[in-house]
Amino acid sequence: MADTMKRIRVPDFKERKQRGEPIVVLTAYDFPMAQILDRAGVDILLVGDSLGMVVLGYQTTLPVTMDAMVHHTAAVSRGASRALVVADMPFLAGQVSVAEAVASAGRLIREGGAAAVKLEGGAPVLDAVRRLVDIGIPVMGHLGLLPQSVHQVGGYRQQARQPEEAVRLIDEARLLEEAGAFSIVLESIPAEVARSVTAAIAIPTIGIGAGPYCDGQVLVTYDMLGLSQGPVPPFVKRYADLGGAILQAATEYAGDVRERRFPAPAKEPE
Ligand code: KIV
Repeated sequence: MADTMKRIRVPDFKERKQRGEPIVVLTAYDFPMAQILDRAGVDILLVGDSLGMVVLGYQTTLPVTMDAMVHHTAAVSRGASRALVVADMPFLAGQVSVAEAVASAGRLIREGGAAAVKLEGGAPVLDAVRRLVDIGIPVMGHLGLLPQSVHQVGGYRQQARQPEEAVRLIDEARLLEEAGAFSIVLESIPAEVARSVTAAIAIPTIGIGAGPYCDGQVLVTYDMLGLSQGPVPPFVKRYADLGGAILQAATEYAGDVRERRFPAPAKEPE
């Protein structure tokens, strides 16, 4: 359990990096999960657009709409007392124009109750990041594997393997920091590249499939709890088998209903 209920704020994260205190991030998509993860002391609840694949059953994150993000973000915000809620900008919400990025991020803050937004990409989103930060909307960057570019890169595979790609990624991390991002997710890149990025910038890096040298770690909650039914990435550590527990409970319930063991016989009035 968290040792303090003091609400986490965006400026806390740079200090956490300076103090070398790891940052704990998990995804959340609904109210009860947000309440449980918040009680466990998770620092950031990320309403990732992974919700499209994890809870809506799509093959990619691309069909996720702004309305869906706002709907799930609002549920998570209602369940978070301590953790910072960060909401993903879905596909095309932040990349088409700065005006659209502002309008979309504004909805996630105003209607969804998020404290910050996450935007995938480097150079192409710098103007949007600058503008959002200028008007008071904190931004988390996202480099490495960008699931919204899955067709461009041809699958969910590790990025920045070649030296020139690693150099570009480190440059983009610096540019995101200059643009005002308060942290950067590094997804599926070699551990040594993540180490170099982490050393090159003063804002925290949050790794997923990026090795142990980041300032914090994020996992998709359904993967680490054993709720995802398909294959999960190899770097995921499974902390529970909730899928198995639910299967067993639902099977037992079905048997009880079919054999008339549930509900228990009504008591005769005295
Ligand atoms: O959408 C998401 O859940 C994410 C994390 C995997 C970082 O972007």
